Amino acid sequence: MSRILVLYYSRTGNTEKMAKSVAEGARTAPELEVELSYYADPEILGKFDAIAVGVPTCHRHVTLNIRELFEEVAAKNVELKGKLGADFGSYGWSGEAPELILEFLKNKFEMNVIEPPFC
Ligand SMILES: Cc1cc2nc3c(=O)[nH]c(=O)nc-3n(C[C@H](O)[C@H](O)[C@H](O)COP(=O)(O)O)c2cc1C
Repeated sequence: MSRILVLYYSRTGNTEKMAKSVAEGARTAPELEVELSYYADPEILGKFDAIAVGVPTCHRHVTLNIRELFEEVAAKNVELKGKLGADFGSYGWSGEAPELILEFLKNKFEMNVIEPPFC
Protein backbone atom coordinates (compact mmCIF):
# COMPACT_ATOMS: atom_id res chain seq x y z
CA MET A 1 0.00 0.00 0.00
CA SER A 2 1.42 3.40 -1.01
CA ARG A 3 0.53 6.67 0.69
CA ILE A 4 -0.15 10.08 -0.82
CA LEU A 5 -0.53 13.35 1.02
CA VAL A 6 -2.67 16.02 -0.64
CA LEU A 7 -1.53 19.10 1.21
CA TYR A 8 -3.03 22.48 0.48
CA TYR A 9 -3.52 26.04 1.61
CA SER A 10 -6.62 27.99 0.73
CA ARG A 11 -7.93 31.27 2.02
CA THR A 12 -11.15 31.67 0.07
CA GLY A 13 -11.84 28.03 -0.82
CA ASN A 14 -10.83 27.76 -4.48
CA THR A 15 -7.67 25.71 -3.96
CA GLU A 16 -9.49 23.69 -1.32
CA LYS A 17 -12.03 22.62 -3.95
CA MET A 18 -9.16 21.57 -6.22
CA ALA A 19 -7.50 19.67 -3.36
CA LYS A 20 -10.72 17.79 -2.61
CA SER A 21 -11.04 16.82 -6.27
CA VAL A 22 -7.39 15.67 -6.40
CA ALA A 23 -7.93 13.55 -3.28
CA GLU A 24 -11.20 12.16 -4.63
CA GLY A 25 -9.46 11.16 -7.86
CA ALA A 26 -6.55 9.60 -5.99
CA ARG A 27 -8.98 7.55 -3.89
CA THR A 28 -10.09 5.71 -7.02
CA ALA A 29 -6.56 4.30 -7.45
CA PRO A 30 -6.05 0.80 -6.06
CA GLU A 31 -3.62 0.19 -3.21
CA LEU A 32 -3.31 3.90 -2.42
CA GLU A 33 -3.98 5.46 0.96
CA VAL A 34 -4.92 9.13 0.57
CA GLU A 35 -4.64 11.82 3.21
CA LEU A 36 -6.07 15.29 2.58
CA SER A 37 -4.66 17.93 4.88
CA TYR A 38 -4.75 21.69 5.33
CA TYR A 39 -1.62 21.57 7.44
CA ALA A 40 1.24 19.14 8.02
CA ASP A 41 4.19 19.04 10.37
CA PRO A 42 7.41 19.01 8.31
CA GLU A 43 8.47 15.57 9.58
CA ILE A 44 5.17 14.02 8.43
CA LEU A 45 6.02 14.68 4.78
CA GLY A 46 8.79 12.09 4.93
CA LYS A 47 6.27 9.35 5.72
CA PHE A 48 4.48 9.56 2.35
CA ASP A 49 5.42 8.03 -1.00
CA ALA A 50 3.87 10.92 -2.92
CA ILE A 51 2.98 14.51 -2.09
CA ALA A 52 0.61 16.77 -4.03
CA VAL A 53 0.75 20.40 -2.96
CA GLY A 54 -2.07 22.85 -3.60
CA VAL A 55 -1.24 26.52 -3.30
CA PRO A 56 -2.88 29.73 -4.54
CA THR A 57 -0.78 32.58 -5.92
CA CYS A 58 -0.51 35.56 -3.61
CA HIS A 59 1.40 38.68 -4.73
CA ARG A 60 3.00 36.66 -7.53
CA HIS A 61 4.41 34.17 -5.03
CA VAL A 62 3.70 31.05 -2.99
CA THR A 63 1.71 31.84 0.16
CA LEU A 64 3.94 32.40 3.16
CA ASN A 65 2.78 29.41 5.22
CA ILE A 66 3.59 26.93 2.44
CA ARG A 67 6.97 28.60 1.87
CA GLU A 68 7.72 28.38 5.57
CA LEU A 69 6.66 24.75 5.71
CA PHE A 70 9.09 23.76 2.96
CA GLU A 71 11.84 25.86 4.50
CA GLU A 72 11.33 23.87 7.71
CA VAL A 73 11.33 20.60 5.76
CA ALA A 74 14.72 21.62 4.37
CA ALA A 75 16.05 22.84 7.71
CA LYS A 76 15.07 19.58 9.41
CA ASN A 77 16.58 17.49 6.58
CA VAL A 78 13.36 15.62 5.96
CA GLU A 79 14.21 13.24 3.11
CA LEU A 80 11.94 13.67 0.09
CA LYS A 81 14.42 12.54 -2.57
CA GLY A 82 12.91 10.11 -5.08
CA LYS A 83 9.35 10.54 -3.85
CA LEU A 84 6.65 11.49 -6.33
CA GLY A 85 5.71 15.19 -6.28
CA ALA A 86 2.93 17.12 -7.95
CA ASP A 87 1.25 20.43 -7.43
CA PHE A 88 -1.69 22.56 -8.36
CA GLY A 89 -3.29 25.85 -7.46
CA SER A 90 -5.93 28.40 -8.30
CA TYR A 91 -5.06 31.94 -9.24
CA GLY A 92 -6.53 35.19 -10.46
CA TRP A 93 -4.29 36.58 -13.21
CA SER A 94 -0.64 35.54 -13.11
CA GLY A 95 -0.49 32.17 -11.32
CA GLU A 96 3.21 31.83 -10.44
CA ALA A 97 2.89 29.73 -7.26
CA PRO A 98 2.49 26.19 -8.64
CA GLU A 99 5.48 26.58 -10.97
CA LEU A 100 7.61 27.93 -8.12
CA ILE A 101 6.68 25.08 -5.80
CA LEU A 102 7.30 22.49 -8.49
CA GLU A 103 10.80 23.88 -9.10
CA PHE A 104 11.44 23.63 -5.38
CA LEU A 105 10.20 20.03 -5.14
CA LYS A 106 12.30 19.08 -8.16
CA ASN A 107 15.55 20.96 -7.60
CA LYS A 108 15.76 21.43 -3.86
CA PHE A 109 14.27 18.14 -2.69
CA GLU A 110 15.08 16.01 -5.75
CA MET A 111 11.58 14.64 -5.97
CA ASN A 112 10.30 13.01 -9.17
CA VAL A 113 7.77 15.59 -10.24
CA ILE A 114 4.84 15.53 -12.60
CA GLU A 115 5.09 18.47 -14.99
CA PRO A 116 3.51 20.85 -15.68
CA PRO A 117 1.55 21.82 -12.54
CA PHE A 118 -2.24 21.60 -12.71
CA CYS A 119 -3.79 25.10 -12.66
C1 LIG B 1 -4.09 39.52 -1.41
C2 LIG B 1 -4.22 38.72 -2.70
C3 LIG B 1 -3.17 38.69 -3.60
C4 LIG B 1 -3.28 37.96 -4.80
N1 LIG B 1 -2.25 37.96 -5.67
C5 LIG B 1 -2.36 37.27 -6.84
C6 LIG B 1 -1.30 37.28 -7.78
O1 LIG B 1 -0.26 37.90 -7.59
N2 LIG B 1 -1.47 36.56 -8.92
C7 LIG B 1 -2.61 35.85 -9.19
O2 LIG B 1 -2.68 35.18 -10.22
N3 LIG B 1 -3.63 35.82 -8.32
C8 LIG B 1 -3.55 36.51 -7.16
N4 LIG B 1 -4.58 36.51 -6.26
C9 LIG B 1 -5.80 35.76 -6.60
C10 LIG B 1 -5.83 34.39 -5.88
O3 LIG B 1 -4.70 33.60 -6.26
C11 LIG B 1 -7.11 33.65 -6.26
O4 LIG B 1 -8.24 34.37 -5.82
C12 LIG B 1 -7.13 32.24 -5.72
O5 LIG B 1 -8.18 31.53 -6.34
C13 LIG B 1 -7.29 32.21 -4.22
O6 LIG B 1 -7.22 30.88 -3.81
P1 LIG B 1 -7.96 30.33 -2.53
O7 LIG B 1 -9.46 30.54 -2.73
O8 LIG B 1 -7.62 28.89 -2.48
O9 LIG B 1 -7.46 31.11 -1.34
C14 LIG B 1 -4.49 37.25 -5.09
C15 LIG B 1 -5.54 37.28 -4.16
C16 LIG B 1 -5.42 37.99 -2.98
C17 LIG B 1 -6.57 38.03 -2.00
